[in-house]
Amino acid sequence: MEINAERVFARLNELYECGAQEDGTHSRIAYSKEDVAGREIFMNYFRSIGVQPRVDEAGNIIARLEGTDPSLPAIMVGSHLDTVPDGGKFDGVVGCMAGLEVCEALVAAGHKTKHPIEVIVFTDEEGFRFGSGLLGSSAICGFDAGASESDIDMYGMQRADVIKSYGMNLKDLPKAAKAKDSVHCFIELHVEQGAYLDRNKLPIGVVSSIAGVNRYEVVVNGEANHAGSTRMADRKDALVTASRFIAKVPQLVAEHGEDFTVATVGTMKVVPNSVNVVPGQCIFHLEIRDQSQEIMLKIEEAAKACLMQECESAGESFTFRKISEHKPEPMNKWVKDTIEESVKELGYPYAVIPSGAFHDSLIMAQVFPTGMIFVPSINGISHSRYELTEKEDIKKGCEVLLKTILKADSMNHSCC
Ligand code: GLV
Ligand code: MN
Ligand code: MN
Repeated sequence: MEINAERVFARLNELYECGAQEDGTHSRIAYSKEDVAGREIFMNYFRSIGVQPRVDEAGNIIARLEGTDPSLPAIMVGSHLDTVPDGGKFDGVVGCMAGLEVCEALVAAGHKTKHPIEVIVFTDEEGFRFGSGLLGSSAICGFDAGASESDIDMYGMQRADVIKSYGMNLKDLPKAAKAKDSVHCFIELHVEQGAYLDRNKLPIGVVSSIAGVNRYEVVVNGEANHAGSTRMADRKDALVTASRFIAKVPQLVAEHGEDFTVATVGTMKVVPNSVNVVPGQCIFHLEIRDQSQEIMLKIEEAAKACLMQECESAGESFTFRKISEHKPEPMNKWVKDTIEESVKELGYPYAVIPSGAFHDSLIMAQVFPTGMIFVPSINGISHSRYELTEKEDIKKGCEVLLKTILKADSMNHSCC
């Protein structure tokens, strides 16, 4: 069975072009017209090999190749097609295209697996619009993704209206849940989005675990006042206090974290946001990620204490609210071992590495036996137009995926 890397690359290019924006950037933000067009292109690829995909109640696309034994659970593979703004060509898309390529290779070879194979494109992995993603995978797992019809997105639109582009209705979301015993395993091929594989010249990473992610909304309350007549000593400048705290975040990670611990303040809103007003309020998001929940909680505590100290000495107040929480997830042992055996048999150099980025696999791993295959991101760049993965590495990744599927097909693990 042959993986056609040229075909995979041509499809990655076609999807990228379909996100072209007037300002020269490329984005397929979830639910946007570019995303809807990209999904249609993807479904058409499947139709061209005689498979009619369906769209479930959560907007997930599921393309199913029937197996020879209808009583067996599905081997699921896939990822996401939505991007961050001005995102790259590979994040998510590569896993969807790899699933398609593997199916096309199987169909071309006339090879029928015993288990059905389901290629899934998850809805809104990135969560750019509403601040929290992983919607499709959460629905598949039967979890409440915390989505409400009245949520307002980045552009001021209501979720109830936004999701109409997918023909979705939030009240039907629970119907997308899959029974635990209907999935043999889930395998996601993805770009590493870090620099380890590229730096070490390794084409494949076998993922050991995915970092947990906690997000917090922090509000610092000072006092808005005239920027010309309020003397420096009399100010309660919320932005200055927030900045003092933010500047200490790297130090908190250095003190309480380990090699892979990260913390980021990635948003900032200043109220009233006027050049001639001392900032009265500052609202920002803090995110903490690590492979250990204990460390994440230690940093949370240290961050709260540091913020309290800064606010007290400035005579200001604050709120610190956890808005989402995902604990770290190890990958399933038999799926991980099966991926590793496949890489070894193919003779490709590899490393077993953790994932700092989150993926739909973080959710899927809580219910279904889940594993991930990484291919290198050149210079570790991702969530950027400069994201690049070499064609040769994508080919190797697809070969590992195909071999892993065939091995999993011959195994009889119950999903419990
Ligand atoms: C998803 O891409 C994330 O790790 O933020
Ligand atoms: Mn991704
Ligand atoms: Mn991403």
